[in-house]
This record gives sequence, structure tokens and C-alpha cells, in this order.
Amino acid sequence: MSANNLIPTPDNWYWPPSQNIASVEINDNAILVLWDNDKRSTLHPLWLRDNCCCALCLHQVTRENLLDLRDIPADIQALSLEIDAEGALCITWPERSHVSRFNPAWLYANSVQPPAPLVSSEFWGTAQLPEPPTFYALDGLISDALLYDVLVSVGRHGLARLRDLPTDLELVEDFALRIGAIRETHFDRIFDVISKADGDSNAYTSEYLAAHTDIPTRESPPGIQILHSRVADAQGGESLMTDGFKVAKDIEQEFPGHYKTLTSTKWCYANRAGPKDYRWEAPTIGLDDAGKLLEIRMLPFSRAPLQGSFEDIKEAYAALRCYMEKANSPEYQMSFPFKAGDLIIFDNRRILHGRTAYDPNSGDRALRGTYLDRDDVLSKIRQLQRQFLSDS
Ligand code: OGA
Ligand code: ZN
Ligand code: ZN
Repeated sequence: MSANNLIPTPDNWYWPPSQNIASVEINDNAILVLWDNDKRSTLHPLWLRDNCCCALCLHQVTRENLLDLRDIPADIQALSLEIDAEGALCITWPERSHVSRFNPAWLYANSVQPPAPLVSSEFWGTAQLPEPPTFYALDGLISDALLYDVLVSVGRHGLARLRDLPTDLELVEDFALRIGAIRETHFDRIFDVISKADGDSNAYTSEYLAAHTDIPTRESPPGIQILHSRVADAQGGESLMTDGFKVAKDIEQEFPGHYKTLTSTKWCYANRAGPKDYRWEAPTIGLDDAGKLLEIRMLPFSRAPLQGSFEDIKEAYAALRCYMEKANSPEYQMSFPFKAGDLIIFDNRRILHGRTAYDPNSGDRALRGTYLDRDDVLSKIRQLQRQFLSDS
């Protein structure tokens, strides 16, 4: 893979060379590393010993730990330190002269400067992105390089469109399985979005669908949705897509009171067609522990009654209306025809999707879809990066 990988890392990943170690010393049980850019790391011996990736401490095939924390003396201290000819930090420990070797790029990334995120999100309105980032299959085929670009676009913009695909029934499942394992829900594993008399969702009618995320009725809604257009002969049925994170960010600036409500008031969504009875309560805008945007949950046509005082209900509706108005306005919502052979893949916990009504008497319309989880996309991006590196 590369010379740098002569020095192993716990994940066996290629860590591009970054900083070299200028000097190292032990001070009062801490291992002090001075880097050649003058930055310093103060490393705990327990942390270093725990991260040893030699064959005794880490299974070399599973890349899982063999070393058990309980077997490391709680008061462990390094016996001696050395920087070897390849620049690795070598530490000898008292137990049977055990030696750990640390790749400097790995050590730097894990103690000074974490690597840049795999993909950085870019929030968009229609001024920035009037239509989905679009990629074209070649002779109906999706190469790994094309798949990589598609997945990076999903990470960055929350969505991608692939065109010029065949309209086979198997396509959407085959495509999803190239990325990860299908995330099954209480709807069909692979579902056909067609107008039918006995559907258990408004999606299975020809009605207009306002901007929504699928299945917030579940504790963990599917992270990725894939829709493949197989037949597009009906009048209408245009696709609608909104960056829910951009809407959230703009509401935070323009209407901070509503933002507070949207991040705290829990709405309940319920699948009521029975016999299944999934329901879950959560805020419209979900934040992570650091207060960063984690997810949007909004399915207007599956919303259950809100519990709360008269005043709380007034504000909850006002805030939700504010979100829905933006999410369905041309400033935020792109609208584009969904042609046969097109496939859309998007982050169902960030991007709100919808469609205009269509006339089922004017012709057929058939989409086929399925779900994955968000981290399937991230894992596949890493896997492809690794594959491209080893090919090069
Ligand atoms: C759905 C859905 C959009 C469409 O199936 O959840 O929103 O274009 N479909 O039919
Ligand atoms: Zn070891
Ligand atoms: Zn939907």
C-alpha cells in the first residue's frame, strides 16, 4: 500500500505521513512527544499500552484487541523510549520487555490533530443547488469510481441523482447491496411506489406529498433512501427535495424562538394503517451532544395529536408551520422530473423529499425503493478509498 504502512497502526489503515517526532521523554509518568512543528503531545502510559498493535495485543486478522485492560497494571510506566530508523515511537514496557511501536502519523492524528472529516456537509438552498448533483451511468453500469462520487455527494449535499440506468426490477436492490445491508422496516424490504387501492401510506396514492422524511414513526428512522424510477408515463409526479439542515440553520438565525421549539418539542408520528402500530416522539430538529444538527423528523401526513398546554400547542404549531413553509418554498425546495432510469439516493434524516400529485389515468408511474443506514455510506466511502489506494 505504501512505505508508511511499514509501521503498523491498529486499524491497518493508510495514514499519510504527517509530522515527524523531534524528541520524546518521560516526565513524571507522562510520555512527552515534541513534534517537528513544535506541537506537543502529553501521552498517558495506560493509553499507549492499551493501543499497542503488536500481534500479542491485537489479532492481526480480525483487527480486534487481544489485550484486556484488566491485564494492564493500573500504574503502568514506560521503561524506555526510542525513535527507530523509520520514525516510529518505540516504547518498552516492564512486563516481559514488551515493546509497542507507534506510527507517528497515527499518533499525531490521535493526540494532536484529528484528520479532516471524511466528507464535510455543505448546506444548500436552490440558489446554491437548483437540481440534484447528477451522475451518468456508462452503458447502464456504475463503476466503483462513479459510485464513490455518488456517495461523496450524498455525504456532502445529502443527495445524488444517477441517470441512464436500466429500469430492471432488480436494479435498486443490487445497487443498495453494493453499498451495505438493506435496512429493513415494517414496510416491504424493497417497496414499489405505485398508486394502489389498499396502500398503507399516502405514498401509495397519486396524491401530492409535501416535504417529509420517511418513517419518523421509528426510534431510528432509516438513514438513507434510494428511489429508482422504472416507469414515468403519468402527467405530474415531479420530485421535490429540500435540505432540511439548511432550513434549520436559517430558522436558527431568523426565528430563534421557533428554533428552540423545533429542537425541544416532541411531536409524535404514528403508522396508523394497522395492524402494525409504530409510533415515536422526538423533536423536529434533532441535535447531537455537541449541539450540531443530527437529524430532521417530519412526516406531516402521519402526525399524531400533540400533547401539551394551550400555550405550548400554539407555539409548537407556529414553529412547525414556519419549518414547513420554508421546506416547501421554491427558495429551499428543488423540483425536477423523475425520468425512467433515474435513481435518487439521499440522506433521509437530512433531506426532505416529496412529489407533486400525478394523474394515474394519464399513464403509469412506478418507483422502486429501499433503505440503508447512514453509516453504510460512510463505510463504503472508506472501503473504496482503501481500494483505490491499493490499486494505485
Ligand atoms: C415515498 C415517497 C416519492 C415519490 O415513497 O416515501 O415519498 O416521488 N415517494 O413518489
Ligand atoms: Zn503489544
Ligand atoms: Zn417518502
